[in-house]
Amino acid sequence: MICAPDTTILQTAREAGFGFPHACRNGVCERCQGTLVAGAVRYLRPDPLTGSSVIHAGQTRADRVLYCVAIPISDCEIDVPEITAPGELPVHRATCQIIGQDALNHDVSRIWLRLPAGKAIRWHAGQYLSLELEHGSYPFSIANAPGGRDIELHVRHGEENDTARRIMAELGERGTVAVTLPAGGRFIDQPPARPIWFICGSTGFAPVKAMIERLIELGHPHPVRLFWGARVEADLYLPELPGQWQHQLPDFHAVTALSDISRPGHAHGLVHEAALEALAEPHAPLFYIGGSPAMAWAVFDALRDEGVPAENIHSDAFDYAPREAPDAGR
Ligand code: FES
Repeated sequence: MICAPDTTILQTAREAGFGFPHACRNGVCERCQGTLVAGAVRYLRPDPLTGSSVIHAGQTRADRVLYCVAIPISDCEIDVPEITAPGELPVHRATCQIIGQDALNHDVSRIWLRLPAGKAIRWHAGQYLSLELEHGSYPFSIANAPGGRDIELHVRHGEENDTARRIMAELGERGTVAVTLPAGGRFIDQPPARPIWFICGSTGFAPVKAMIERLIELGHPHPVRLFWGARVEADLYLPELPGQWQHQLPDFHAVTALSDISRPGHAHGLVHEAALEALAEPHAPLFYIGGSPAMAWAVFDALRDEGVPAENIHSDAFDYAPREAPDAGR
């Protein structure tokens, strides 16, 4: 970080996007306090205790420098607790009210949680939280764009999914639930000026919904494409949303693909096949894949085979279920 002349370290850090703890910005509350590890700073006003305005690393006062009133006078290295990198949000554990639950189709339910008042908890569209339940911690993508206190989750709890059925049963018996958030590094906050393509299946639709809602808020002017796959029509929960998004984004188009059945209005086959069919410029879009690790990696391979650069393909699954190297475990 380079500080402009006569600019405090706090001001420069905030302009660079760092989450720097602070409150008064006037050298009073001590919220911005940290250690000066190397270098020297000058305070805007002399320290009333010592009469001096310059602090060098290693001096007794260097372990509690107030960065809101400190201007660097050399290259500095600082250590401040709770600082977050640009784009990174602080992680919170909070107790949420469970304010609603409704069935979205035959095996997906929507859960609504409300964060506590008076605590500013933020997340980025596409991130997830962990439900802290009696028998463990369970990650769920947040299905709505950030900005309020309410959080939407989509839970698939079919016959074959014992864990999800247990979670639903436990949530049904409680009025509150502990959550930890946010988590996940594949999100959309300020999108790049390029087309964005989403490929998803099952409840991988949830983070995609949040990201599309964020793009709508921002009025994203570039093409947005949604490829949404399911086995049969009834698996496509919230089917009316793509039609609404068409009116809310300047250039939006959705394709739904059914793998097990042929139906008018839907492509027939695997969802990524529909995406590949539409892909004319492999280097142009940024891809976000929502789905199981097996699905995400299969789509990754298919896109790479078509010439899509790996750095343009994102999925949370790549982080929580990384692919093992061929010689792993040997
Ligand atoms: S923000 Fe209050 S002392 Fe720095």
